[in-house]
Amino acid sequence: MDKSRADEPTAHRQPDKTMRIKATLLTTALGLLGHSALGHTAASEFLPNSEQRDPVIKNILTWDAVAKAHKATPGEQDIGFAFRFRNDSGGEVRVKRADSTCGCTVARLPKLPWIIASGERGSIPVTMDIRGKTGLITKTVILVTDKGLIPLKARVEIADEPEPLKKRSKEERAANLRAAVQNRQAIFQGKCVECHVKPTIGKRGKQLYATACGICHEAKDRASFVTDLRPLASGKDRQYWEQWTAESKPGTLMPAFAKKHGGPLDDNQIKTLVVYLTRIYPRELKTRRAVAQKSKPPLK
Ligand code: HEC
Ligand code: HEC
Repeated sequence: MDKSRADEPTAHRQPDKTMRIKATLLTTALGLLGHSALGHTAASEFLPNSEQRDPVIKNILTWDAVAKAHKATPGEQDIGFAFRFRNDSGGEVRVKRADSTCGCTVARLPKLPWIIASGERGSIPVTMDIRGKTGLITKTVILVTDKGLIPLKARVEIADEPEPLKKRSKEERAANLRAAVQNRQAIFQGKCVECHVKPTIGKRGKQLYATACGICHEAKDRASFVTDLRPLASGKDRQYWEQWTAESKPGTLMPAFAKKHGGPLDDNQIKTLVVYLTRIYPRELKTRRAVAQKSKPPLK
């Protein structure tokens, strides 16, 4: 269904500016919905966070939107939304509190109970912490008022694919290797930072593994001296991963990632990485094997 077409005037006339803005909003919203494959209707249309419009949506108060969406760029951690309202209800509205579906998403309210006078305008800031999260996340903050509940939805789309790295020539790769042989911590310095440090900034858990470790250990064209970690992962404990990640071993090419050795990772990041490596990573191998087994042609 092409919704934007259905909204077009049948008679030919110069489309005015509001029409064009509306069409953009709609296509953006539809794009987001298509991605989520949830098939929402216009009632729960998500207004892009960057767009501004006057309060039009009636739910006790009148809102610019009761659902807002944001596309996160790499490195973003706290996403701010502002739900703007006007009190057209004809009387005062008393906000008792705000509940939310996740500790990661909070609304900042003035002193409670918050009495919004008739005709008053304002906005409610909502912040979502997306550290360590990927994919499409929707959280709801529920305003509890004397006139009923008002759910406000915030949605963030987080790209989980790191930017593709620049291809290096054979010579560059060999030169990098020579630098690492001289100093295994060289990858955290100079021009190496672009590929070996920057993509790890602000990452946790699985994404941290992909950017900090996977670059060497999961490389399609992995060097023969870089250990294949997947087969040895099962049964390895916290200490094993912590030791290798933070300290590594002198005399190997495996760098030490802890800040105290000049590495890029703080204790908290290492903790989330170790949780991923002990709890999820070993099971991923089993899943991969099962999938590989299934897709094999039957024996004749
Ligand atoms: C343009 C991105 C990029 C830069 C810059 C870069 N690397 Fe790498 N590095 C990679 C990738 C990707 C791999 C995984 C192997 C592959 O696919 O080429 C890798 C692998 C390695 C390895 C494992 C051995 C190997 O060759 O596979 C070492 C050691 C290494 N890099 C050291 C360094 C050092 C030291 C520097 C800086 C002097 C550096 N790298 C700069 C992208 C980069
Ligand atoms: C620059 C490439 C590179 C990066 C990045 C890298 N490693 Fe390594 N890693 C190596 C190499 C090379 C070895 C083999 C060391 C040896 O035994 O000589 C190794 C070995 C290891 C081992 C030891 C395996 C065994 O023999 O028991 C573990 C565990 C490990 N890496 C985990 C990690 C983790 C976790 C990360 C991310 C925080 C990471 N590595 C990032 C290159 C890398």
